[in-house]
Amino acid sequence: MSLDPNLPPSEIENLLAEDRTFPPDPDFTAQANATVDLYAQAEADPEAFWAALARERIDWAEDFHTTLEWDLPFARWFIGGKLNIAYNCVDRHVERGLGDKVAYHWIGEPGDTRRITFADLQREVSRAANALIELGITTGDRVAIYMPMIPELPIAMLACARIGAPHTVVFGGFSAEALSDRINDAEAKLVITADGGWRRGKPAALKPAVDDALAMTTSVTHTLVVRRVGDAVDGGTAMVEGRDVWWHDIVDRQDDRHDPVPLDSEHMLYLLYTSGTTAKPKGIMHTTAGYLLGTSFTHEQIFDIKPDDVYWCAADVGWVTGHSYIVYGPLANATTSILYEGTPDTPDWSRWWQIIEDYKVSILYCAPTAIRAHMKQGPQYAQAHDLSTLRVLGSVGEPINPEAWLWYHEHIGGGRAPIVDTWWQTETGMIMITPLPGVTTTKPGSATFPFPGVGADVVDGEGNPVPLGSGGYLVLTRPWPAMLRGIYGDPERYRQTYWSRFPGMYFAGDGARRDADGYLWLLGRVDDVMNVSGHRISTIEVESALVDHKAVAEAAVVGKTDPITGQAIFAFVIPKVGVEANDALAAELRNHVAKAIGPIAKPKFLMFTPDLPKTRSGKIMRRLLRDIGEGRQLGDTTTLADGGVVEAIRASSGSAEE
Ligand code: WT7
Repeated sequence: MSLDPNLPPSEIENLLAEDRTFPPDPDFTAQANATVDLYAQAEADPEAFWAALARERIDWAEDFHTTLEWDLPFARWFIGGKLNIAYNCVDRHVERGLGDKVAYHWIGEPGDTRRITFADLQREVSRAANALIELGITTGDRVAIYMPMIPELPIAMLACARIGAPHTVVFGGFSAEALSDRINDAEAKLVITADGGWRRGKPAALKPAVDDALAMTTSVTHTLVVRRVGDAVDGGTAMVEGRDVWWHDIVDRQDDRHDPVPLDSEHMLYLLYTSGTTAKPKGIMHTTAGYLLGTSFTHEQIFDIKPDDVYWCAADVGWVTGHSYIVYGPLANATTSILYEGTPDTPDWSRWWQIIEDYKVSILYCAPTAIRAHMKQGPQYAQAHDLSTLRVLGSVGEPINPEAWLWYHEHIGGGRAPIVDTWWQTETGMIMITPLPGVTTTKPGSATFPFPGVGADVVDGEGNPVPLGSGGYLVLTRPWPAMLRGIYGDPERYRQTYWSRFPGMYFAGDGARRDADGYLWLLGRVDDVMNVSGHRISTIEVESALVDHKAVAEAAVVGKTDPITGQAIFAFVIPKVGVEANDALAAELRNHVAKAIGPIAKPKFLMFTPDLPKTRSGKIMRRLLRDIGEGRQLGDTTTLADGGVVEAIRASSGSAEE
């Protein structure tokens, strides 16, 4: 078998060292939503399983006639059905008497709060939908959303969904260039944004980035701007006459009733751009009914959602985690959620634990990078708060190392709350590999088993399943309701990226190992995609940003193991002839990348080098650069075109950012 040599061996050893098991507490099991028979039930007939759930859980305007049409790799689910996802997330709960239930407890970073019930949400979303219509948006038009974590963000998404205008949310930390690329690819007609947001005690302007982005686009006719920071941003916010409209000017005066538009099951709900192995981000398409079913059912089962729970997914709505598990899944289940604007360290590291105590949060879902950041500060912040209401803890975005798992278990979960380590992707739309609380015996660091109805396997280079105890590539073996429907405007790239490596199977890009008991251990990406704080960033995107600078001749980027963020970006840069390579230039190049892509892509390490290791065909050997970055012994160098290169790089000087 030809296993990719890039699979990180150190991680395999690490994970193997952890063999403790945590069986479910019988008291939890007795009240759990999930039961062990779910697996057999789903396996007996996956399509019938999903069809029955779709009829039970979704309010349809018209029933579907066909569960699945699978024209590999193109899936259509619940064909013939008509529904509105915003109706399913909001109105139906109000109609059933839950109008006064809180949908979101919103907490602004400065300490201001808003309590939004389902009835409030119904009115706000209806007003926003009416405003979109007034701005000329109709079913099928794309709307870009670029906002901080304020209530108007989910309201804007639901307003789009209500009229069938697919949204594309661009994370508020992305740059103007990243925003304009996405607006252009989606040909968005409207941008919904805010003047700014609060971050680490300061107002951060957002609208100027929209203005810059719009200078590079032609499709946008209007922007709709929420006033969040007001006069706190220097000089206020410039509005372009005839193009920019304040949210409070247009939304507040609308009728608070709007009839949701019944849409086809396969109507595009949203596009979300994600990094791959090329510089151009992929517009991942998600549609309506299958996505609604997949997110709501997994949410209810995996987090054991009960009517009185206060649930907090601490991700940003700008990533898929927020789409599926802050907005659509929880709202479809009439769940009360926390929505927090700021960072965990403002005003200090007790902020999260204070929120959990104040709101009696019962379920917390966050990323290992956040857990490690808290770990670094020490448990005293958590210990000073009453976290006894927590009963389920979730993890997502990257492998959780056993140490972090155990810390989370002990210091946050009081040794009592089950942990669900959930593996999935922007493309999968819903959680795919996860324990079921009350059912699964967990092992720290393992995402355990595929969710009921999901087909997953670990295969070797030829696509054959590996035996227990071996590693290989993680693949998904059958379609699932929330799966991506393709890459916007590029069906061939969709086929090529996900379905060509192993015929008939979806290749996720991750390495995995199955232990002697059949547990799955995710081992990170096997392609040239880095995972920084649980977010995918392609090496090529960062390299393109670097070579775009006038001082750079060539650049190569790799991920380096980082104690907090999982991976940190390490850039090797060949300066142009005559350029003086010094710390000032290194700092300038780092900022250049942050400006081009966003602060998350800013290289933490940058090294100037006279040359890069390449194969005889000219391909950069990132594997060797990774070895250099990690400071470990070099792997096989026999395919290097020039053996002296590595020594030359080793002799170069680097600079790191703290
Ligand atoms: C990639 C997907 C899923 C929402 C956040 C990221 C990695 C995700 C886990 C996990 C190990 C994980 C994978 C995957 N990943 N969850 N529980 N254990 N790795 O979404 O940006 O689409 O990234 O994140 O490498 O392929 P994304």
